[in-house]
Parts: sequence; structure tokens; C-alpha cells
Amino acid sequence: MPLITFNNSPFPPIRVKEGTILIDHIGTSGSPLCLGCRTGICGLCRCIVIPREPYLLNAPSMDEQSILNQFDPHPNLRLACQVKASTDLAIEVAVLYPIRESATQNTRD
Ligand code: FES
Repeated sequence: MPLITFNNSPFPPIRVKEGTILIDHIGTSGSPLCLGCRTGICGLCRCIVIPREPYLLNAPSMDEQSILNQFDPHPNLRLACQVKASTDLAIEVAVLYPIRESATQNTRD
């Protein structure tokens, strides 16, 4: 059972069933992550995911990647509602990874 730790949060580590979606194990009360649509659309659950064994982590789908492209790039930026816990994961809340200026310009035009 993979161990999930939250590096920049007082949220305690949790063990989850292998292959399950990360955000399904995080309740809304006291959550270390922002939660929104839970379907990969809003981007609120974005976080930095550092897998213990990177080859076991599911790659972002094209839909997830299109959402991630709206934020400042980071090689480990993911949507928690799209990540499968298939290895131990260290999670960092991605509040420091704002929307790209180019993405906001597109919506203003
Ligand atoms: S909760 Fe909306 S993208 Fe994950």
C-alpha cells in the first residue's frame, strides 16, 4: 500500500490502496489540497507529485496536460484528481505555481 506524505502541510501521511486515485483519499475537511471538480477540469487540485518510483506513476493524459499547460511549468506538476497512487508519493501543494500570464491574456481578449 503506497504511503502518501504531504511535504509542506501538517496533514499526516496516509496509506492508500494501490492504483486508486489520490484525491479519493483526501477529505474536504482539513485537506492539504484545494478541491474542486474532481474530474480534471478546474485545476484547483494541482500539486507537485514526487514519486518514489517514477516509472510507476501514470503519465498525464492529454486532457490533464492541457489543464497543466495553463500554469507555470514544473516537471512534477499534476492534478491530484488524475494521479493514481501506484508508488509512494510526496505531495507539495502548488500554490506557488500560478496561472501563466499567457493563459490569462487569452481569456481577456
Ligand atoms: S479537482 Fe478540479 S482538476 Fe482536480
